[in-house]
Formats: sequence, C-alpha cells, structure tokens
Amino acid sequence: MTSTRPGFDRRTFLQLAGVTSATVALGIAAPDAAGAAPGRPLRDGAFSLGVASGDPRPDGVVLWTRLAPEPLAADGHGGMPLRQVPVQYEVAEDERFRRIARRGTVIASPELAHSVHPEVRGLQPGREYFYRFRVGAQLSPAGRTRTLPAPGQRTGSFSFATGSCQAWYHGHFAAHRHLADEDLDAVFFLGDYIYEYGITESNLWRRGAPALGPEHRVEIETLEQYRLRYALHKSDPHLQAAHAAAPWLVTWDDHEVQNDYTADRSKYGISPEHFEHRRAVAYRAFYENLPLSLAALPNGPDGRVHRRFDVGSLARINMLDTRQFRDSLDLPAQQRSMLGGEQERWLYDGMVGSPATWNVIANGVTVAAITEDRTDQWDGFPAARGRLIEAMQRTSNPVVLTGDIHKHVAAELKADFADPASRTVGVELICTSIASDGDGAPTDKYAADWLQHPYVKLYDGRRGYVHCRMTPEELVSEFKIVPWVQADATAPIETVARFSTPAGSPGLHRKA
Ligand SMILES: [Fe+2]
Repeated sequence: MTSTRPGFDRRTFLQLAGVTSATVALGIAAPDAAGAAPGRPLRDGAFSLGVASGDPRPDGVVLWTRLAPEPLAADGHGGMPLRQVPVQYEVAEDERFRRIARRGTVIASPELAHSVHPEVRGLQPGREYFYRFRVGAQLSPAGRTRTLPAPGQRTGSFSFATGSCQAWYHGHFAAHRHLADEDLDAVFFLGDYIYEYGITESNLWRRGAPALGPEHRVEIETLEQYRLRYALHKSDPHLQAAHAAAPWLVTWDDHEVQNDYTADRSKYGISPEHFEHRRAVAYRAFYENLPLSLAALPNGPDGRVHRRFDVGSLARINMLDTRQFRDSLDLPAQQRSMLGGEQERWLYDGMVGSPATWNVIANGVTVAAITEDRTDQWDGFPAARGRLIEAMQRTSNPVVLTGDIHKHVAAELKADFADPASRTVGVELICTSIASDGDGAPTDKYAADWLQHPYVKLYDGRRGYVHCRMTPEELVSEFKIVPWVQADATAPIETVARFSTPAGSPGLHRKA
C-alpha cells in the first residue's frame, strides 16, 4: 500500500489500527482514522454489483457491497487496483437519509475481492432501516433492511420469501423482479447462488445476454474464477433489486463448489488435495459475495454457515449446512449422517427446547421420502432423516424450507413415510429455481415420482419463489411462478397454490 498522506504510511496505519488491524483488513470495522491511502480516485461504477444486507438481529444487521467498476474484468478483480480502499457506510431511519442511526468506515481490500461486511449494531428492534455506501465521490444505491423483533417479544407476523438455484445462463431473473416488489421481512436463499459450469452455446438459454469472453467457457476452479462468476450473477439488476429490498439469510448447496460434492469429495475424480483447495476458494468467494458476518469467513476449506435466528416469540430459524458435513455414500445408508454430529446436536438442542411458536429449518435438499435412488437428498440418509423426524415430533410447529430440485413441491412430513396414515409431524415447502432449467412446465416427466405419494400436495416445474407469512395462528404459503424466463425478464407473476398450516395442527390445507 502506498500513501499519499504525509507521515501516514502503511506501518503507521496498522499501528493506529492496533489490535483491530485484522478486522480492518477484512472490511468489518475500521477506526475513524482509517482514511488511509486514497490513491487515485476509483473509476465510475464502483457499486455496479449493488448492495445487500443480511443476518438481521434485534440490534443490527450485516451490510454488504463489493467494489467492482469493471465487474466482468477477466482477471476476477472487478477492475479494482490491488490496494486497500476506505468505504463509508450510513444507516438511516428514513429513505432520504435525514435521520442517520449509524455510520462508519470499513476497508475494502484486494484479499477479499474489495468486499465489505460491516456489522452494524445499536439499532432498534423490529424496524425498517435504509443504508448506503460511499467511496470517494461515488454513492451507492440505497438498500432497505429490517431488524428482527426484540427477544421474546410477541410478534404479530413475519413475512419472507424463499429462493434457490439461479443459473444465470438458463434464464432471466424475472422471479427476483417480483420478489423485490414484495413487502418482506427477510429472504431465505437455500443454495445454488451460482453454478460452476462453463457457459457455452449449448447452455446459454438467456436470450439477449451480453457476449461473454472465453474465460466464462470453462468450469470454474480458481478463486479468481469464482469471483468472476459471482460478479456475473450479481450483475443482474433484478437480483440486485431483491438484495436491496430486504435482508437475506443464505446457505449453500453443491453448485457453490461443484455439482453433488460430498463433504471433502468430488464425484468427478478430482484428487483430495485439489478438491480441498477448490472448496477453500469456493467457500471464500461465497463469503466475499454475500452479506454474512465474520463468523462465516472460512478457515481454509472449513466454513460455518449453520446458524440460528429468533424472530421474537413467533419463530426460531435454523439455517443448515447440508453439504459440508455429510457422510460419503460409500458408508451403508443407515450409518450416513447428513449434518455431521456437531451440527445435528446443535439443531436438536435448538429445536426441541425452543419456546417459539414456529421452528423453521432452512435446508438445502429434500427431506420428504420420494424415491430411494435420490441419494443426494435425505432419501440417501434414511437413519439421519429418522432422527430429524423424531426430533420434529418433539418440536413446536416445525417447518422445513428447501431448494435444490428446481420444482415447487409442498409436502407433509410423516412420522412414517411408509405409512401414509401415520401422523403428520410438520410441513416441507420446496421452492423451485429462480432460473435453473429454463422455462420449465407445470408438469414434466418427474412429476409422477413425487405425486405418487399422498403426502405430496403440489408439484409444479416452472420458475419462481415461495412467499410465506407467519402469524401466531397460521402459516400461509404461496407458491409463485413466472411463465417464462428464457426470452426476457418481463413475465408476470402468478400464484399456483396457496396453503394454510394452522399452528398446533401440522398439515397443508389448500386455500382458494
Ligand atoms: Fe440447483
């Protein structure tokens, strides 16, 4: 780092930062003196990847942006100089930023792709805020966010949407355009934020897409390639609008690293050493590009994204990691763990004793029993699923939120899936993809596999998201679709099914 400020070199800067120098370098918190080394002004368009907030708490939220004046620069650096850049943020009670609640400065550094993740604290519970960033003379677009209610507070309602699987090359993000218009307290993203495949004529179904250079044609595997792929996805204006509309709670599935990987194993014959490196850079790029707190910064190939949120007394939300800790399919099915021992204990400890009316389990892959050859889903982990179902029977109103399969499915979860007359212990709401698999159709060749089960109440193979509204009395889930995504982003939104789940009586009841 070179300094243009007399007597203020890198060493002085680090001394001033003192014990916080590590966090300064990570773009989390910076002392007021951190206006170091402004260098030449950045090129216009520093905020071309948008802004985001996430992981809301009663007293704060994580803000996010990543500076990238040239987001699709082939080297993955977003057109940024390889030096640290101070970024100011402000959080206001009003959209015009007249009543400022918090402001501060963080450092965007090349080590984290010039992303910043300030963790704002000292906010009021259960209220709306607006935020924006500034670098030099450039001001970011404003985002809207919302803190969670105070712990234990009686909460009248909690509205959220769930989304997953946004293969940029398969279609436009029309679903995000509509999601951004909803009045939401939160958005859950359940995995496959990016896809790792090379983008070629055969899979580029998004009509009118900008011409992409050869660097996009190969399967991604380096840190720079993952960064570039996130930038490609995040260049979509409708995804940016969805991030700017509400705080997101994200988890990952497989394509953030590689299709169908299991813990430390690729299914494509990559050596363990190579795959460990790949997982490390993929997890790092995930952190860099999403509004996650420092706790999610991976340590080499190890990341922590399972975490818990309480929405007053109304809901407890358990975000799961169903990829990193799962056992290999080489083990006998009855011995396989999906979550790993530590996460499984953590989940049941938090669910079974939970005082919340609703207990949400946000997870990557389908829990409901469908076919035994679906070994990438909980169907491949029958004993582990049995323990989950058993824990759900001792939990108040469990609700599983799932992505992954690129179909809308609503299912009742049974005490014994082999006996459809057995007790319903909870519900599973599976959201279809945002874009993966292109336009889709209401029904397809897979529908019969799902609809053969009386506990599966809905199947639809088009693109969209699920909207949910929880109150102390009821959960209403609405399955929304857009009729097309390949041609353009103009498709209208339609609700294909609406279900009521009364508190105290698990099940799915069709509403008009
Ligand atoms: Fe997917």
